[in-house]
Amino acid sequence: MRVKKAIIPAAGLGTRFLPATKAMPKEMLPIVDKPTIQYIVEEAIASGIEDIIIVTGKGKRAIEDHFDHAFELEETLLRKGKTDMLDSVLQTSSVEIHYIRQKQPLGLGHAIWSARKFIGDEPFAVLLGDDIVENDAEPGLLQLVDQFNKTGQSVIGVKQVSEEDTQRYGIIDPGAIDGKLIDVNKFVEKPEPGTAPSNYAIMGRYVLTPEIFKFLAEQEPGAGGEIQLTDAIQKLNEVHSVSAYEFDGRRFDVGEKFGFIETTIEFALKRPELRGQLLQLFREKLDEEERNK
Ligand code: UTP
Repeated sequence: MRVKKAIIPAAGLGTRFLPATKAMPKEMLPIVDKPTIQYIVEEAIASGIEDIIIVTGKGKRAIEDHFDHAFELEETLLRKGKTDMLDSVLQTSSVEIHYIRQKQPLGLGHAIWSARKFIGDEPFAVLLGDDIVENDAEPGLLQLVDQFNKTGQSVIGVKQVSEEDTQRYGIIDPGAIDGKLIDVNKFVEKPEPGTAPSNYAIMGRYVLTPEIFKFLAEQEPGAGGEIQLTDAIQKLNEVHSVSAYEFDGRRFDVGEKFGFIETTIEFALKRPELRGQLLQLFREKLDEEERNK
């Protein structure tokens, strides 16, 4: 069965960006001039997804407004002949976006479970609302979808991280490794420092079979007191094997401050109209640092 539906969980509290996220969802924080969640929606579209459900929570209305038609704005841009700007506003109009509210932010696993009725009995994708994956050749999610099409088994996107960082992620205990495809003995959410079974970390992209909902329904809170998706994936793995796939492309963690700033700089450097000025600014800052030594 084809993967046509995707869930983008965006109901977290975004506490690492307070006070900015008090009234504005962190998924709406812009990278240069586009909200983070739009990059993610574009990746889903480029991966063949036709229906997206965004799991939202309190204070997330801006996300719905963003993907809605803005008739007055569109008409004004059309009338003024500002076609580039109009195109940028219409970029994500080819996909159906639906919304569901997670009543309480009980964890990522609970957010996914909240969307179960929308998914029904078919395989689906998950893209986290604060991870941007950039790859010129093939979008990150599409690589997982291709893999799923070969095996029909759930597949989880991973990348290698440094040993100190393993405690921040879901980590896999790998079995046989065949190029980028990895058998998984066990999935462990946020292992205690020094106990990680490998440095392969789950990176915000998943293709899952609907059996996961059964395990999510009975999942008890895990790391951080939250209902963890990783724990339910481990239970699924005990019944139907789940593999990991080390996808190509760079992953940007825009859910934490330094990652957000780094992503903004990297994306701005790719814009010809900003690159020169930005490099000039860096040169001046480095000279200033040298002089003040
Ligand atoms: P994070 O843990 O990165 O998001 O969850 P957070 O909880 O909003 O961030 P901090 O730690 O307080 O700064 C990863 C993704 O899962 C969603 C988040 O919106 C984010 O996209 N999420 C998390 C939910 O939808 N519901 C939850 O209960 C928790």
